[in-house]
Amino acid sequence: IPKNLERDDEEYVSLISSLPSDIDFVGRELFKYQESWYGNKMLQAIINFQRGFEPQDTDIIIASFPKAGTTWLKALTVALLERSKHSSDAHPLRLDNPHNLVPFFELDLYAKSSKPDMTNFSSTPRVFATHVPLHTLQEALKNSSCKIVYVWRNVKDVLVSYWYFKSALMKVEAERSLLESMFESFCRGVSYGGPFWEHVLSYWRGSLEESQNVLFLKYEDLKTEPRVQLKRLAEFLDCPFTVEEEENGSVEEILELCSLRNLKNLEINKIGITSRGVDHKNFFRKGEVGDSKNYLTPEMEKRIDMITEDKFGGSGLKL
Ligand code: A3P
Repeated sequence: IPKNLERDDEEYVSLISSLPSDIDFVGRELFKYQESWYGNKMLQAIINFQRGFEPQDTDIIIASFPKAGTTWLKALTVALLERSKHSSDAHPLRLDNPHNLVPFFELDLYAKSSKPDMTNFSSTPRVFATHVPLHTLQEALKNSSCKIVYVWRNVKDVLVSYWYFKSALMKVEAERSLLESMFESFCRGVSYGGPFWEHVLSYWRGSLEESQNVLFLKYEDLKTEPRVQLKRLAEFLDCPFTVEEEENGSVEEILELCSLRNLKNLEINKIGITSRGVDHKNFFRKGEVGDSKNYLTPEMEKRIDMITEDKFGGSGLKL
């Protein structure tokens, strides 16, 4: 085994030295791998994941660009799958943060090894998450028919949400200078998992080509028609609501349990820290549509709208 590891390390070093590199908004070196940008550690984790993951056809994978609604989708998926199993007090979502219940491949499970301990995933379906684009994910799935649920969101709100999140991680006030440099990085596409638009397009095309395996959800739709979207998710995951469940308020119960207000006010989300060391409370902010209007200048909006039109034009995607 050590020999293998050595060989793998050598392979990794030669791979990374062959990749284009650039600098992100905090001056960190990123590498372009399979059309997206990652820091060194993340890239190693993604390669661990692609090499080592052993998919099962029943696996469910929650995919997103960071800050597009991952926490909400993780919570809704857990709540759907766990319904009827728990009394409301002992519900996993009341006892832990959605990010600890549904780990990321590249941030959590495969961060240090291509063969992580999977004993926590003894029951099916297993639920995982990722921020990598579809083509990178598919390499790890090796043609198995896992179900992938993707959530996306207006890029401007993603950017502002990311700015607040980054500032909270750095334990500083959200400064305009950071927003401005993040904006430049976003527009150039050089940020973790970026470019944003290609990320969305990868899953959008996947959902058109393989609609039984890829569900494409939009944060804004979840906000305006949560019942409809939750029912779509339940059907896609092969656990549709029964007539009885609909009549006895099961849909509303799940929406209420997973609401931003409810999750944010749970003790575990006020004081807890994820296994990666992020304060749970940082995942919950305003959850509003169009909040970016309060922070981006008209020039910034115009520039980002033009990029969006250019990249999404002809795809059928609408903001
Ligand atoms: P804002 O910063 O705009 O408030 P992610 O979960 O992908 O990290 O995205 C975080 C964004 O989703 C934040 O947006 C956060 O407030 C919002 N969010 C978190 N939990 C939510 C929930 N249960 N319902 C709606 N939005 C939620």
